[in-house]
Amino acid sequence: MGVFAFDPGDAGRYLSAMRIVLLGAPGSGKGTQAQRLVERFGLPQISTGDLLRSAVARGTPYGLQAKAAMDAGQLVSDAVVLGIIRDRLAESDTLRGYVLDGFPRNQAQARALAAMLREIGKPLDAVVLIEVPYKEIVKRIAGRRSCPKCAAVYNIHDVGPGEALRCRNGNDHPPLVQRPDDNEATVTKRLEVYEKSTRPLVDLYAKQGLLRRIDGDAPTDTVTQRLMGALLQPAPASKAASRSGRKTGRKSAAKRKTASKRKSAAKPKSAAKRKGAAKRKPAAKRKTAAKRKPVAKRKPVTRGKPVAKRKKAVAKRKTRRR
Ligand code: AP5
Repeated sequence: MGVFAFDPGDAGRYLSAMRIVLLGAPGSGKGTQAQRLVERFGLPQISTGDLLRSAVARGTPYGLQAKAAMDAGQLVSDAVVLGIIRDRLAESDTLRGYVLDGFPRNQAQARALAAMLREIGKPLDAVVLIEVPYKEIVKRIAGRRSCPKCAAVYNIHDVGPGEALRCRNGNDHPPLVQRPDDNEATVTKRLEVYEKSTRPLVDLYAKQGLLRRIDGDAPTDTVTQRLMGALLQPAPASKAASRSGRKTGRKSAAKRKTASKRKSAAKPKSAAKRKGAAKRKPAAKRKTAAKRKPVAKRKPVTRGKPVAKRKKAVAKRKTRRR
């Protein structure tokens, strides 16, 4: 965080109150990075994948409808997903901020989310696209294991030799399991669905001035640093946003700090101006006055020749005429 010109406390307070969407292909690390934001800033993570898996496991009506689509690598119907999201966003822990992981996933969901947030007057602050090459994605998904109890995500490539594949959270450390949709055929389908339905949201959010991109093909800690850096930067203004004069969410922490500095610096200045205005001339006038000679040294103003000279001239003319 050393690159930022404000203290980490400021950054933390700002990040803990943001409304964020994490966008990216399956396996790009959205869930992993969302977990980091939960741990560091207390932002609630809203993962439609986790909510749907939990609904499937509990056999709820939403879960029963979602299961077939999930097993096939297809999107679950908008009606089910929007129902789940609406319920979740109504919970009190989301009042301050949250990170949406895996939602929205198509244009209809993005429009529905915008309408929901407009209703409550709390628009999104940022959308971050995590970019990872497909070759790396396939490797990550093949190695992914998760905790059936707390949904924590691990990878066999990060587990040391001889280390048990068990969850590190809590006391009972359940054995890790592979997600049923993490098989080769389903992953291929999920990537296709991402390209067709979700990738168009990149342009949509770029036009709204909300999109920031980060390279996610790096160690997890590096990606977290990039994510925080992206969230703290002001979003690149879009043409559409500036044309319509739309306000793109709240100001960034850096901007807010500069603005407040400007405000406090302005106060004494204007007070001084008010006091001095009656007594002092403007600088330009003061300079001209200083250049002018003192009154005593200046020549008296005379119009034409002195009286004695004028009389002599008249007499001369008279003599010439005679
Ligand atoms: P969901 O659970 O959302 O799956 P996904 O979007 O396919 O994303 P993943 O969870 O696979 O990947 P991720 O980006 O979170 O990566 P992760 O951090 O785990 O959705 C599942 C299904 O539910 C969908 O197919 C659909 O059917 C349905 N669904 C969900 N939302 C829906 C919606 N809105 N509308 C309709 N249907 C919906 O990382 C992957 C692995 O890589 C892990 O093992 C991790 O440890 C590892 N890893 C992470 N970062 C790094 C790194 N930097 N370096 C090395 N390894 C890393």
